Amino acid sequence: MRIRTGTLLAPLAVLVLSACSGGATPSTSPADTATASGNYRMAEVATHNTREDCWAAVDSGVYDLTSWIDRHPGGSDKIIALCGTDATDAFNNQHSGDTKPAEQLMSFRIGTLVD
Ligand code: HEM
Repeated sequence: MRIRTGTLLAPLAVLVLSACSGGATPSTSPADTATASGNYRMAEVATHNTREDCWAAVDSGVYDLTSWIDRHPGGSDKIIALCGTDATDAFNNQHSGDTKPAEQLMSFRIGTLVD
């Protein structure tokens, strides 16, 4: 009976322990690298001002819009005009309150705008 209990409990303890540590590790490192974590000044955003390398700031976020230029339903020219700029007004004037553009924008986030 004592042997049976030990045989059952030991693997269970290993399972619980590995589940705990396993849960903590992936939730920090990959999420941190996947999520935007850089801090950028407007001066840096302004250097990414071409069709091939297009960043823009919207409110306190910095976004890499390069891949969106040729996919924007409203036309590539609208996005090209934003490259290297603070696009807060342009974005909000056109898309304020619209779920789809806001969600799309979030997917391009690379960091936070700092002073
Ligand atoms: C980073 C900035 C922007 C993002 C992420 C974005 C995203 C989007 C998305 C997702 C749609 C499709 C909406 C839907 O299907 O319901 C859309 C449509 C549109 N966008 Fe933008 N947009 C941006 C900036 C702009 C700007 C600055 C303008 C105008 C100056 C603009 C003008 C339009 C127009 C006119 C449409 C409608 C196209 C149509 O229905 O044929 N967008 N945008």
